Amino acid sequence: MTLQLRVYVPPHPLIKHWLAVARDAATPSVLFRSAMVELGRWLTYEAAREWLPTQETTVETPLDSTPATLIDPQVPVAVVPILRAGLVLLEGAQTLLPLASIYHLGLVRDEETLQPTCYLNKLPEKFDPQTRVLITDPMLATGGSMMAAMAELTQRGIDPSLTRIVCVVAAPPALQKLSAAYPGLIIYTATIDETVNDQGFIVPGLGDAGDRTYGT
Ligand code: PRP
Repeated sequence: MTLQLRVYVPPHPLIKHWLAVARDAATPSVLFRSAMVELGRWLTYEAAREWLPTQETTVETPLDSTPATLIDPQVPVAVVPILRAGLVLLEGAQTLLPLASIYHLGLVRDEETLQPTCYLNKLPEKFDPQTRVLITDPMLATGGSMMAAMAELTQRGIDPSLTRIVCVVAAPPALQKLSAAYPGLIIYTATIDETVNDQGFIVPGLGDAGDRTYGT
């Protein structure tokens, strides 16, 4: 079987609504943040399908016993927010994954070269190979930052096919790079936009997600 990168754009009215709010240049920072938290929540909800490990069990209701499904606490679940902007998606994701371990990764792009530099890495030396990883970052532009994050994760034992990316706006250059390097990867995004301009901004996009989130 040949693996292929899969990109899901869930056709959900809440995702469309909060994307429209986030895209609008007139949206103030406080509302932009709320929109991103909601997008993190609903995209994580979608990403959790067939990703969150479950176990079959039996429960006793007040009337009878019945087969039931529980989240499997034996399989590690990790969320990796890419700082800064990935933190705001983490907020919504964490409400759905309260038991997940959070490993922060700080990456910043050089404004001229668009190359990412890592300034904070809280990843463990080795992951359990069964670990389910959810990476949060609102923008996949040139793909340099996500490629760097994936390299850090896979060299620590993470299986790309057990990894999900939650982003808000994905652009073709990033999808092409990720598809070539990690064909088993699955991405959940609110939209796929047309292009990346010379300054590295996704067009039409939503501007600089980090600056708009933090009002800087
Ligand atoms: C932005 C964004 C992604 C990255 C995407 O972060 O949040 O991490 O750029 O671009 P790429 O696909 O071309 O690598 P930025 O470096 O501006 O840092 P910030 O989150 O602190 O604003």
